[in-house]
This record gives sequence, C-alpha cells and structure tokens, in this order.
Amino acid sequence: MSDATQDILVHAEGGVTTITFNRVDKKNSFTEAMYAAMADVLEAAAQDAQVRCAVIQGDVTVFSAGNDIGDFLRQGAAAQPVAMTERPVWRFLQAIATFPKPLVAAVCGPAVGVGTTLLLHCDLVYAGDNAAFALPFVNLGLCPEAASSLLLPRMFGMHRAAEALLLGEPFMAEAALEVGLVNRVVPPTECNALAQAQARKLAAKPLGALMAAKQLMKGAQTEQVLAQMQRESREFARLMREPAAREAFSAFLEKRKPDFSAC
Ligand code: COA
Repeated sequence: MSDATQDILVHAEGGVTTITFNRVDKKNSFTEAMYAAMADVLEAAAQDAQVRCAVIQGDVTVFSAGNDIGDFLRQGAAAQPVAMTERPVWRFLQAIATFPKPLVAAVCGPAVGVGTTLLLHCDLVYAGDNAAFALPFVNLGLCPEAASSLLLPRMFGMHRAAEALLLGEPFMAEAALEVGLVNRVVPPTECNALAQAQARKLAAKPLGALMAAKQLMKGAQTEQVLAQMQRESREFARLMREPAAREAFSAFLEKRKPDFSAC
C-alpha cells in the first residue's frame, strides 16, 4: 500500500512551498491518497499569508506517469462508484485551477496524462531536455480532463491539440516550448534549481500585486475552466466503466497491448 506522506514531500522555505513527487518506482503515478495530500497542501498554501508561491516538481528522471492505473481499474469496477466530484482528484484539480498565488512547475522525463494537464494551470513551467509529454486519454478509452479539452486547443491550436489529444502522440520538450506549454528548456539536472530560483524571485515581490495580476490574467477564464472540468468529469466517469477503458487498464498492468476489437 502506497503511503502519501512518503509519496508527496512538502518543503516550506522563504515563502515558497514545494511539493515533490516521490513515488519514483511507480514513475510518480498519482494515487488517490497523493491527490488528497497535494490538495491539502495547496488549499493550506492558498490561505497561509506566509506562503507567497508554490512549486511542483518531480524527479530528474520522471515528472509523473499520471493517474495510478490500478486505481483507475478499481474505480471503474466499483459496484457503487464514487462521483467524480467527490474524489480527491477533483479537489486537487480545483486547487490548482483556482490557486491564487504563483504556481511554478519543473518537469523532467515523462509527464503523462494529468502529469501534463496540471501544467496548463501553472504560471511558469520549466522543462528538462528529457521531458516527454503525452496525453493518451483516448488510447485508454478515456477523454481529456483538467479542462485540457478547452485549454489545449487554445494554447496549441486545434490541429496540434488533436494530434496530442485524439492521436495521443507524445511530444518532447522543444515542441512544448514552441507551443508555449513551457517557458524554458534546460539540462535536467538544472531544472528543479531553476524553478526554485524563479519561485524565490516571485516570493520577493509584493504578494498583493502578484495575486491581483494573476487574478486579472486568469479571472475571466476560470469560470469556463471549472465548467469544462464538470463536463469532462461526467464523460470521464462514464467512459471509465466501459469495456474499452477496462481493457486498456488491464493491458497496461498485464504488460501487453490492448485489444479493442470487441470495444
Ligand atoms: N499507474 C500505475 N503504475 C504505473 C504507472 C501508472 N500510471 N506508470 C508506470 N507504472 C509502474 C509500472 O507498472 C511499473 O511497475 P512495476 O515495476 O511494478 O512493473 C513501474 O511503474 C515502471 O514503469 P515502466 O512502464 O516499466 O517504466 P518505463 O520507463 O518503461 O515507462 C512510462 C515509463 C511513464 C512511459 C510508462 O510507465 C507509462 O506509459 N505509464 C502509463 C502512463 C499512463 O497511461 N498514465 C495514465 C494517463 S491518463
């Protein structure tokens, strides 16, 4: 059983709260307990006047392989499914989408599923040149989440978004830089340090002005983002119980190719 207190490390210093994913043996895939722990940290950081900025980072070899697929399989098979909006992932997505202070991310290695979509809610994103992004929702019999069906076409343009979200084609750090998903690409060993340095710069600025600027930049879009997340979550919950998703999850865990011929 995974322990969220070990899988999510939290460090607070100089007005910067840092969340580090620490489940590297499972490629930092997120369990329900990890979402709950991250939501707790972000909700507290939003309220705490001592916190001026937050950083989300992984390991130099992997950012996150997205949702834990074993958790997906169990949720999809539950006789009495918990509503999507009652799940810890929902609280986590709300927390990042409405976080009122600057949110900085450092991404090295694979960033899959929510490992990429969470970045759409960060203000600054730095990537190691080994960063590899992928949104394989359709390949798993699922649909986009975290308002990526709204934000990705806006950021990438419709056709590039379709390559990422419909074909599920992975893309590397340089392509992410070109479309504006990341601010800068650096050697992986420098990535977390760069994010920390930028966070310290932000933490030294007047918090009220930072929060006002962020609110003005994001405010009008936030309503749309939250409404889109609701729509996505209804589809996602339905699809998770369909044979295609069950086959895709089982195939991953059994280390074989999925067979969608009956789906
Ligand atoms: N959920 C649960 N376990 C996961 C996982 C996930 N999302 N991603 C990786 N793991 C586990 C693997 O099962 C494996 O466990 P094991 O050592 O007990 O067999 C371990 O992490 C290492 O993964 P592996 O696939 O061997 O590493 P890799 O370096 O060859 O590939 C990835 C890394 C991230 C490309 C690959 O693991 C992957 O594609 N993961 C699934 C991503 C995904 O579809 N996420 C859901 C998005 S909605």
